[in-house]
Amino acid sequence: MTPSSPTRRAFLSSLGALSVAGALPVRAWAVAGGAHIGGTATEIPRGLAAADDFGFAPGLVYLQTGSLGPTPRPVIERTMDAWKELESNPTLICYGKHEREMEEVRAKAAAFLGCGTDELLLTNSTSEGMNWVAQGITFARGDRILTTDQEHPGGRACWDYVARRHGVIIDVVAIPPGENNPSAIVARFRQQITARTRVLSFSHLLTSTGLRMPVAELSALARSRKCLSVVDGAQAIGAVALDMTALGCDVYATSGHKWLLGPKGTGLLYVRADVGARIDPIALQSGHSAYNASTGVCSTPSALGLGAAIDYISSIGLTSIEAHNNTLYRRLYDGMKRVAKATVVSAAPGSLATAQLTFSLPLDVLSGELATRLFDTHHIQVKVVPANMLNGNRISMHLFNTERDVDALLAALKMELA
Ligand SMILES: Cc1ncc(COP(=O)(O)O)c(C=O)c1O
Repeated sequence: MTPSSPTRRAFLSSLGALSVAGALPVRAWAVAGGAHIGGTATEIPRGLAAADDFGFAPGLVYLQTGSLGPTPRPVIERTMDAWKELESNPTLICYGKHEREMEEVRAKAAAFLGCGTDELLLTNSTSEGMNWVAQGITFARGDRILTTDQEHPGGRACWDYVARRHGVIIDVVAIPPGENNPSAIVARFRQQITARTRVLSFSHLLTSTGLRMPVAELSALARSRKCLSVVDGAQAIGAVALDMTALGCDVYATSGHKWLLGPKGTGLLYVRADVGARIDPIALQSGHSAYNASTGVCSTPSALGLGAAIDYISSIGLTSIEAHNNTLYRRLYDGMKRVAKATVVSAAPGSLATAQLTFSLPLDVLSGELATRLFDTHHIQVKVVPANMLNGNRISMHLFNTERDVDALLAALKMELA
C-alpha cells in the first residue's frame, strides 16, 4: 500500500469509524495490541515519523507523551543490540566498549543541550537528578526554597526531603490554572524571595498545562539575589530546542523517556560549571563520567539507546518537530471551542504554548472517569491531571501524532461531554 492508495485510505477510514464510534471491542483491541515493530506496520500515518517506527497497539491514539514517550524502532534496535553485545562478555563490554560509547553519548547530549560535556551527567530520571542536586546543597535550618504550586512530585519531593531533614522552609508561588502571563509569574517570584531564600526551583514546561515558564528571567532573578536556579526540564527535552547558556540556569534536570523518546529509565542532569562547590552531590565525587565509583554500573544498553534517541530526534529536527506540534496544538485549541463543559487552561497558540493542551472540567465530571471512557470506548490515551491541580485532562501531541488523532479526540470529547 502506498501512502495515498485507495486501499490504504479505506483501511484508515475503517479504523477511524471503528475508533470514533467505539465499535471495536476493547478486549479484542487490547489483545490484538502486540508489538509489531519490524513486522507488519499498521500503515497508520505517523506524522513526521515513518509508518512503522512505532509499535503502538493497533487503533491506539496515543496522546500521553508527557507521561512516557513511545520509543521508536531504531532506538529500540540500538538498545537491544547493545544488550545482546553486553551479554556476549559482560565485564569486557561493560567496562570497555560500552563505557567508551557512553562517554560519546554524554558528549552528544551535551551538544544537544548546549553545554559542556563536563557539565552533564547521565541519570535514570528527572527525579533522580533533582534528588542528587537537593542533597548536594548544604542547608542551614531556616533557609528557604521558593517553588511553585504546579510542580510535579518528581521536582518537589527532593525539597520536601531537605525540609524534613534540615528544617528548610518551602515557599510556594501560586500559578492558577489559566495563568499564562510570564511577567506576572516573575513578579510573584520577586515578591516572595526573602533574605533566607537559597534556591528558586521551577519547571521549564509546566506538567499541568504545558506553559513555557520564563526560565531565563527567573534564572537571572535568582542570580541577582544570590540564589541557585534549579529547573525541572522533564517536559522540555525533545519537545523544544534547549540551550543551557541562553536559559542561564544553574541546574537543569530532565528525562530521556518522555519527548526525547528514549529508553525508559534514562535522564540527564546539567550542573553549570561555575556553580562549583555550592552543589556537591555524592554522584559527582568520582567525576562526571557515566560509569565511576560514585555512580556504579548503570544500564549501558539504555544509556546507549539514549544516544540513539538524540540521533532520532535530531534527524527529524527540532524546528520541524516544534512546527508540527504547533499545528496540531492550534487545531486542538480551535476545536476545543466547540466542546461542551471543557475549559482550556493552556496558553493560546503562540510563544507560551507548547505541545500539551490541558482542559479543566466542572466538578461533576471527574477527569479520571473521562480519561477511562476515552480509553475504553475510543482507544485514546490521555493524562489525568489530578483534582488537586485542576480536575482536567492533558493532551500531549508529538511528532508521530496526526491531525486525524486530534480529530478523533475532538469527536470523542464531543460525544462524552455532550
Ligand atoms: C515536570 C515533571 N517533573 C518530573 C517528572 C518525573 O519524571 P521522571 O519520572 O523522569 O523522574 C515529570 C513526569 O511527568 C514531570 O512532568
